Amino acid sequence: MTAPNGLGNSIENLLSLSGEALTQQFLSSPPLNNSTDEFLDYSEHERSEMSVSNNLWYKEAIFYEVYVRAFCDIEGTGNGGISGITNKLDYLHTLGVDCIWLLPIYPSPLKDDGYDISDYCDIHPDYGTLNDFKILVKAVHERNMKIIADFIPNHCSDKHKWFQSARLSRDSPYRDYFVWSDSPQKYKDARIIFLDVEQSNWTWDETAGQYYWHRFYKEQPDLNFDNPKVQQEMLNIVDFWLNLGIDGFRVDAVPYLFEREGTSCENLPETHDFLKKMRRFIDNKYPGRIILAEACQMPDEVRKYFGDGDEFHMGFHFPVMPRIYMSIMRSKSECLRNIMEGTPEIPNTCQWVTFLRNHDELTLEMVTKDERKEMWDFYAPVPRMRINLGIRRRLAPLMGGDQRKIELAYSLLFTLPGSPIIYYGDEICMGDNIWLEDRHGVRTPMQWSDQPPNGGFSTSNKLYAPVIDDPEYGYQKVNVVESEKDPSSLYQVIRQMIQRRRKHLSFGHGSFQWVNSDNPHIASYMRICGIDRMFIVQNLSDQVQKVTLHTHAASITPFSTTSMPSSSNTTTGSLHRRTPSNSGDGIASGIGSRVGGGDGGNIESVTSSFGNTLTVDGAGGNLLGSKVTPIPTRKVHTHYQQSNTNINKQHHQPLTTKEEYEALKGTKPPLVSFLNVETASYDEQSHYLIDILTDYQVMVDQKGYVTMELEPYQFYWFSMGEITTLMGEGSKSRDLRRKSIQINDHTSLHQRNIHFADPIDE
Ligand code: GLC
Repeated sequence: MTAPNGLGNSIENLLSLSGEALTQQFLSSPPLNNSTDEFLDYSEHERSEMSVSNNLWYKEAIFYEVYVRAFCDIEGTGNGGISGITNKLDYLHTLGVDCIWLLPIYPSPLKDDGYDISDYCDIHPDYGTLNDFKILVKAVHERNMKIIADFIPNHCSDKHKWFQSARLSRDSPYRDYFVWSDSPQKYKDARIIFLDVEQSNWTWDETAGQYYWHRFYKEQPDLNFDNPKVQQEMLNIVDFWLNLGIDGFRVDAVPYLFEREGTSCENLPETHDFLKKMRRFIDNKYPGRIILAEACQMPDEVRKYFGDGDEFHMGFHFPVMPRIYMSIMRSKSECLRNIMEGTPEIPNTCQWVTFLRNHDELTLEMVTKDERKEMWDFYAPVPRMRINLGIRRRLAPLMGGDQRKIELAYSLLFTLPGSPIIYYGDEICMGDNIWLEDRHGVRTPMQWSDQPPNGGFSTSNKLYAPVIDDPEYGYQKVNVVESEKDPSSLYQVIRQMIQRRRKHLSFGHGSFQWVNSDNPHIASYMRICGIDRMFIVQNLSDQVQKVTLHTHAASITPFSTTSMPSSSNTTTGSLHRRTPSNSGDGIASGIGSRVGGGDGGNIESVTSSFGNTLTVDGAGGNLLGSKVTPIPTRKVHTHYQQSNTNINKQHHQPLTTKEEYEALKGTKPPLVSFLNVETASYDEQSHYLIDILTDYQVMVDQKGYVTMELEPYQFYWFSMGEITTLMGEGSKSRDLRRKSIQINDHTSLHQRNIHFADPIDE
């Protein structure tokens, strides 16, 4: 099947719309339909209101990466397929997934597992039919979820009819679809990406009588984007799939579209021009659909792929991924802090995408040579575990099967800026098979149950790859059924993390501020969006760690102009554990529930469980007609806007004066050396922090300090309040108050006593 023809004119028209018109169209496209299905402890209506009621849904979404072949085989062919995914949608929905990313689904000779496409507008026969695909898309949307597909514009398969024709003759209409040369000396400055397999980016084609250019396997000739016909073909393909209703694309290998002599042939201006053109086309014809850039580059380079909000909506944050592993390996937070400081501001309508693992090797391209060696030695001690510049292992084995460490890694993933992606199987601690070729060791069949012979994946006796059945990670022990049954399984913990995350806008929309401490083993930061303020504290080490932190931040109100809480109480700093005896009807009613009306500007009182009254000035009300900023102004990363070498010094001044320091000395635990959170007028107050995962509570002192002790790998996601308000856009503004958190199911986490237990008052 080929791409539909006759799109030329309409594409031209669409491309001519201005950026402003596009943005308006984008922001005003209709929200998702609600369905009546129930979702966990929220009704679908609430869920939709909370997470995807605005067209920036992708900024709050949890993504899930599915390798179609591995997920579920309901036909008994030995290969997973499209209808297998449809069959398992409720599983993903229950986990809390908002958007599914499908790895390549197209016909392909599978040299690169589908990244070598031989027909862009059809489904690989192993996976099913276009009709199966339409059924999947419909079923996804019925669950109020989204679906994006992999799109691979940079190259196709050498079996694609374009290449087959092109090589036959210099007169072929497709000859100029590819990049040819009589000499392999051209573009010498371009690196080789598949270093372990390819010696050159040029391969001699006997039939063609010329060399052709390829950045990946030689079976994947690069397309020639200097040819307008190639660009048009790509827009036609985008059109074809978006017309089938998908919500966007993960766009593969975007830095390499164009080649220019004397450059690295990466991130060229021409590449950005084409991508902007593609974006204009999508925004015009399919407003609200998204594109996600795969550009394995440092943040400054990836930043360019967001443009002025007119290129990609999303971009993978590749460098932060290995640093999550590095920080846990070293038990030190410094590398994480450094990479976050080197991460530039991005436009309001854009979002980073973070991940722990994916279908490729854990790439160490974005660390130094020494760091790579250090990480290889630690995480890949057996040579076979190494591949190219990375590691062919899955998350659970990388963490030595230690669930505390895995949960810590997820805590980092879910709380750092960006929308997280979960790689299929990692939510149930699936293992790997390093003896399989290429990157196939992390692409083994999903383990659904302990049923022999294939763990519920397939009834066939001939699978595309063997299911894992070793004693530690075998399907007999590691599978979905077991995970669902066990209240303390990783799956259940992730599910709860997702639920909690969903209630706090600051994770998807908020600013990020590192909070310094005197303890290098602690990674602590603030996420702030309006009055929703999350304070994250994580122990990266395998030892108990004590830390003193300052919690008062910041006048950053990306979504709200309402004033921030002030307090009339004067409680001294200490850590309290809420117990049933003092919690009455629980955190929700004890700390955060709103009393009284809700118009902007009203004074609201909330009664704490300690009998103190917090006065909240106009926060959380119906903001329609009040002091509303029509389009959210996102004042974030204030001190990261500058270049690395020019970080605004004022953020590194101590918050307390010398006198205050002296006065506090002796009565307080050791003070932090310096802090980078900003002071604000409401700074001098006491307030509560509530760990939203376990319901533990910290009372912060008047100066904003809190001291706590964390068990090995323990983490807290402290909330400073229960109500979050999302401002709408202008007249479409909607009051989206979060419901108070009802934590009914935390007992299981307490019982585990692994790392959620309160270490102070016990
Ligand atoms: C991307 C994919 C990888 C593939 C390569 C070439 O990096 O993630 O699997 O091999 O592109 O298409």
